[in-house]
Amino acid sequence: MNIEYPKRIPIANLPTKIERLNTLSKILDGPDIYIKRDDLTGCVTSGNKIRKLEFVLADALDHNADTLITCGWINSNHVRATAVVAAKFGLQSILVLRGKEPPILQGNLFLDKLVGAEIRYLSPMEYEKRKEIMEDIVDSLRKKNRVGYSIPTGATYPTGVWGYIMAAEEIKDQMPDLDAIITPVGSGGTYAGLFIGKKLFNLKPTIYGINVERDKEYYKRRIASVIEEWNKSFNQSISFSPEEIEIIDGYQGKGYSEFGEEEIDVIKRLARLEGIILDPVYTGKAMRGLIQEIRNNRFNRKEKILFIHTGGIFGLLSRIQEIRNL
Ligand SMILES: Cc1ncc(COP(=O)(O)O)c(C=O)c1O
Repeated sequence: MNIEYPKRIPIANLPTKIERLNTLSKILDGPDIYIKRDDLTGCVTSGNKIRKLEFVLADALDHNADTLITCGWINSNHVRATAVVAAKFGLQSILVLRGKEPPILQGNLFLDKLVGAEIRYLSPMEYEKRKEIMEDIVDSLRKKNRVGYSIPTGATYPTGVWGYIMAAEEIKDQMPDLDAIITPVGSGGTYAGLFIGKKLFNLKPTIYGINVERDKEYYKRRIASVIEEWNKSFNQSISFSPEEIEIIDGYQGKGYSEFGEEEIDVIKRLARLEGIILDPVYTGKAMRGLIQEIRNNRFNRKEKILFIHTGGIFGLLSRIQEIRNL
């Protein structure tokens, strides 16, 4: 099917490679496990967010924006990717972050500062009002004859969703015979894009999301509403039933951005077995889920599974003090 994509500014290194995880597949003695290296979409623009931001930036420039405004927790990968993209295209960035300014800047926050982003630190209570705060920033820029473009959490809104619709098409061309695709689920946009892509391009694999916070029911509702919004915004008619949104619950640990020994073990295993570096907030949790579900016989030995490595290395590097016993 030929899809008319909206305008996009190519920034990411695409297509990303698919590699077989030989040692892990052998040790688990289960399905063939492959990994899509979306951690290699760029260096400081690495990870899944840059796919979304290619479409977001095109829309922002169409609106004559001179400033990108976005939000997230203090070590957000999405926020860092946005700040870097803004710098690259001569725009300013204003970042609305949940958390206190730490004494030492690390990981994503360090990079945010390095590329010259303006940062507003908010308490958890203030952060609840981030939407209004970002609207106020756009208003105050307008009064100075400037144009702010506000990007919601994780760039999960109809324009950003196109990033993973395009990724679904890429996957179909690379590996048409897959049985399952596994992705971490945070704000839900990556899953929603893959799901829409599956429908548009007739992909065979089931798309499984592993939630890194909250629970299955929350994400089923959230993803359904992202798809419906996308339908409305782009005058499309993707139809689906809630049962088709497959969320594998139970691997969120203590919740968003929290992690413990189980995630650290998985990160160490993948690093040592495959030279793949995961992060403790998203990909470490999702990989833990995948390994456990293979042990639980959710997948059979004849299947081919693709894990989307959505990035997060700077998130990992911001938490090294919490990761001991290497
Ligand atoms: C490394 C990484 N993986 C996965 C996700 C989740 O993607 P989404 O928010 O599209 O569900 C994020 C989102 O912040 C991320 O930074």
